[in-house]
Amino acid sequence: MALWSGRFEEGVDAFTQRFGASLPVDCKLYAQDIAGSKAHASMLAAQGVISAEDAQAIAAGLDGIQADIEAGAFAFDVNDEDIHMAIEGELTRRIGTAGARLHTGRSRNDQVATDTRLYAKARCTQLMEANLELRHALVQQAQAHFDVVLPGYTHLQHAQPVLLSHHLLAYAWMLGRDFERLAAARDAADACPLGAAALAGTTYPLDRHATAAALGFSRPIPNSLDAVSDRDFLLDLLYAASVSCIHLSRLCEEVILWSTAEFGFITLSDAFSTGSSIMPQKKNPDFAELIRGKSGRVVGDLMALLMTLKSLPLAYNKDLQEDKEGAIDAADTLYDCYRCAAGMVATMAVHPEAMMAQAKKGYLAATDVADYLAKKGMPFRQAHEVVGHLVLLCEKRGCDLDDLSLADFQAESSLFEADIAEQLDLRRIADARTTFGGTGSGAVREQMAAVEAALGADAARL
Ligand code: ARG
Repeated sequence: MALWSGRFEEGVDAFTQRFGASLPVDCKLYAQDIAGSKAHASMLAAQGVISAEDAQAIAAGLDGIQADIEAGAFAFDVNDEDIHMAIEGELTRRIGTAGARLHTGRSRNDQVATDTRLYAKARCTQLMEANLELRHALVQQAQAHFDVVLPGYTHLQHAQPVLLSHHLLAYAWMLGRDFERLAAARDAADACPLGAAALAGTTYPLDRHATAAALGFSRPIPNSLDAVSDRDFLLDLLYAASVSCIHLSRLCEEVILWSTAEFGFITLSDAFSTGSSIMPQKKNPDFAELIRGKSGRVVGDLMALLMTLKSLPLAYNKDLQEDKEGAIDAADTLYDCYRCAAGMVATMAVHPEAMMAQAKKGYLAATDVADYLAKKGMPFRQAHEVVGHLVLLCEKRGCDLDDLSLADFQAESSLFEADIAEQLDLRRIADARTTFGGTGSGAVREQMAAVEAALGADAARL
């Protein structure tokens, strides 16, 4: 025996205890753990497995612990491995043998899966609420600046004029799909593993339908092995959060671009900007940048859990303890990003003149001039060529299409008549896109009504 073995072993034990513990993370699931234990105890009593008195003592003891935790009067012991041990240990210290009966027909394996599903459901609902708040902010700005015209882009080059309301509603639709993904993740979590015990079920006459219903789950999970090993619901949550973060990164990228001197389309409110410690003139879109940056960590959380689950054999393995930290982080991050983005969008100032000034550059009427010819019978390909020549002429002269004379137009095609002038009006050009889903004001008004109807319907799903 090495001289230092006693001391070394003690050191290693203390270290591995900390290495193996999940309490610093899963203490956030105390309310779910207590709810699960209360449902389990009352079902055990109803099934005659424990006495009604024991079940009452357990429920009262757990309520006391919850009250203490919420009052900040409960000191978690760092030597407890996880929230399940911490609460059960404290319960038994408080109420004695009744507490020691709680874990009958139950394992931490079904317990942790139950807690995590309850937690995931609650976080999905909270995220859906914050998602709605951001969509409301987008719709409000779209209404406030309904008719504002800005250049629409492809390849970040001026393409065709679009309404700002149309542009903002595109984000409302993206976020509407994110809401659906969050709702789907909540549905995936909405199945109860409790009663699967360690992996195979139990010999006690447990009523799994009763505990599932008592905890507000729509159903018990029909296979005990699957019940304790399935973490798909967290992948669903992480994927939904990742996609939404990517959408937010796109929105924020535009907010950042639009608030540059080069664009000058918007000014962020002071509450959503920062200054520089050295350059007194600066007003930086820090929070938009931060939201854009945080998409990286949320996608990382998704990747981490995918890799943790890869090749994992049935049933419970300690690897699964790694599931919660990333999921909690992703939910926290997305929640903050939604709230920050909602405030930023709601308070930004829009500069319609700057948008219009840019829309006047870059020959945004070109497609419509070609359409004008095509509608008069010229094949579109040929019309495209004619307008190409006109654009070239403008480039040489350093002017725009609406600076050309009728004679300039007619030199390229005799189909041009005096009414070409009104074809060059950007507002008219945007408005002429009357197809379903187009940027014409009538179509956008219809679209706005659909977005508002979706907001109302989604609010009822919280
Ligand atoms: N702390 C564990 C986790 O989060 C709880 C389940 C532990 N079960 C076990 N058999 N070690 O996954």
